[in-house]
Amino acid sequence: MAFSIVYKGGDILSEYNDIVLRMENITKTFPGVVALDDVSIDLKKGEVLGILGENGAGKSTLIKILAGNYIKDSGNIYVDDEKFEIKGTAEAMASGIRVIYQELNTLNNLTVTENIFIGEQIVKGPFKIIDWKAMIKKAHELLNILNVKLDPNAVIGDLSISEKQVVEIAKAISKEAKILVMDEPTAALSAEETQSLFSIINTLKAKGVAIIYISHRLKEIFEITDRVTVLRDGKKVGTLKTKNTDANKLVEMMVGRDIKDMYPKKEVQIGDYVMEVKNLKADGFEDISFKLRKGEILGIFGLLGAGRTSLVKALFGANKIRSGQILINGKEASIKSPSAARDKRVGLVPLDRKAEGLALIMGVKENITLANIADLGKSFLIDKKNERQKAGKWVDEIGIRTPSVDQEVNSLSGGNQQKVVLAKWLESGSQIIILNEPTRGVDVGAKIEIYKLIEDLCERGSSIIMISSELPEILSIADRIITMNKGRFTGQYLRNEASEEKLLSKACQ
Ligand SMILES: Nc1ncnc2c1ncn2[C@@H]1O[C@H](COP(=O)(O)OP(=O)(O)OP(=O)(O)O)[C@@H](O)[C@H]1O
Ligand SMILES: [Mg+2]
Repeated sequence: MAFSIVYKGGDILSEYNDIVLRMENITKTFPGVVALDDVSIDLKKGEVLGILGENGAGKSTLIKILAGNYIKDSGNIYVDDEKFEIKGTAEAMASGIRVIYQELNTLNNLTVTENIFIGEQIVKGPFKIIDWKAMIKKAHELLNILNVKLDPNAVIGDLSISEKQVVEIAKAISKEAKILVMDEPTAALSAEETQSLFSIINTLKAKGVAIIYISHRLKEIFEITDRVTVLRDGKKVGTLKTKNTDANKLVEMMVGRDIKDMYPKKEVQIGDYVMEVKNLKADGFEDISFKLRKGEILGIFGLLGAGRTSLVKALFGANKIRSGQILINGKEASIKSPSAARDKRVGLVPLDRKAEGLALIMGVKENITLANIADLGKSFLIDKKNERQKAGKWVDEIGIRTPSVDQEVNSLSGGNQQKVVLAKWLESGSQIIILNEPTRGVDVGAKIEIYKLIEDLCERGSSIIMISSELPEILSIADRIITMNKGRFTGQYLRNEASEEKLLSKACQ
């Protein structure tokens, strides 16, 4: 396996004998956007190539071309040195290209086993009868390899996002893969699940599988990749050997500037109590009490399954409250539905934006103004001009990368969809805004824009409850942090008292 790496003007080109994939001079345009402009990558047997770039940089487009979801405008693809014209997903799969997509593609009405073997069912006998027994057995094995306890007969619709993600991973590794692509695979995984994914990656690597790994989490890029390619605005900035670079360098390549001050915290005047929660109990948690002040950012930290999402759903009227009280501005508020929450000016930016936060086939402008249709026009006639203006303002302010406010949200990159959900609630001017992992899947530059916006909202008098699993994030922007474990509060810290160790130990106790 002789190979050497040659440094050529900022680009490490691999001169391997065992390159399995070359994508050369790939260009792809969509109406109004050049998603990829003359991008080339190569991939060796048994290596992990990271792909980094801001939201909308073209990462997912590149792999969708490889997977046969999109047809390139120009450029060439070679698999094992042979030119490969990929015309569809079935063809890509048949040649050993497996993809775990950024957006979950599991089918909610089907079981875990059915999802894993969709399109590739195991059959037996001359009449090709579906061999359920074999499939369930194989599903068991795959889930065991992934170290998860999941019933192969469970219906997908009943699973959490992280469980759905695990099913996608099982599907991808269910057949021998030559090239395995993972687009943000850990976005919904806990630290523990991420580690089991990494051990699977290492096993596959050792077997010679070539892996493309897309993530916004630099820590993961450093832990798991051998080389990393950075894209910016659809162009390749360069490819580096991971061990020869550092976070600052990569961020600079990604955003084209040096980001030193990652999380600036603006001190905002904190006012009176706006919300008080007393001994609240619902499915997923119990005995929760806390107070929230005007202008305050209250962080909630906990590991997966700690009850954080159940709690915020209850505050938003989407999870039935069993006992306890919620007071808003000193008065008892009966929040029995999301619309009751909205009446009390409580907004939620949900975790699963695809299922709960967005109308995917509608445009950017409709989505941003969705929560506020009542403000836009007196009758059913929505004031289109006003709608455009309002949406346009947010597109500029938080830098939503879209050709226009008319663009279907479906076609935006993952991170830009997240910004649309956020804009919707910013536009609604809620008094209390609940954010569930607001920067998940959002790139470093956009993260900072979102933090600034959150702080602006506080300055204008809103209060924020923010769930985040990212310790550096919660430690630097929350004024106060509450930790949760197994459905209960386990600790509370002011920002200057909190530390990563304290939060983690309380979240795991
Ligand atoms: N089907 C489509 N129709 C129109 N435009 C699209 C489509 N798919 C992608 N784009 C556009 O192409 C550009 C690149 O998007 P892509 O999804 O590849 O970005 P990304 O790097 O994966 O971003 P993220 O980190 O947010 O996932 C974006 O401007 C996006 O809006
Ligand atoms: Mg993407």
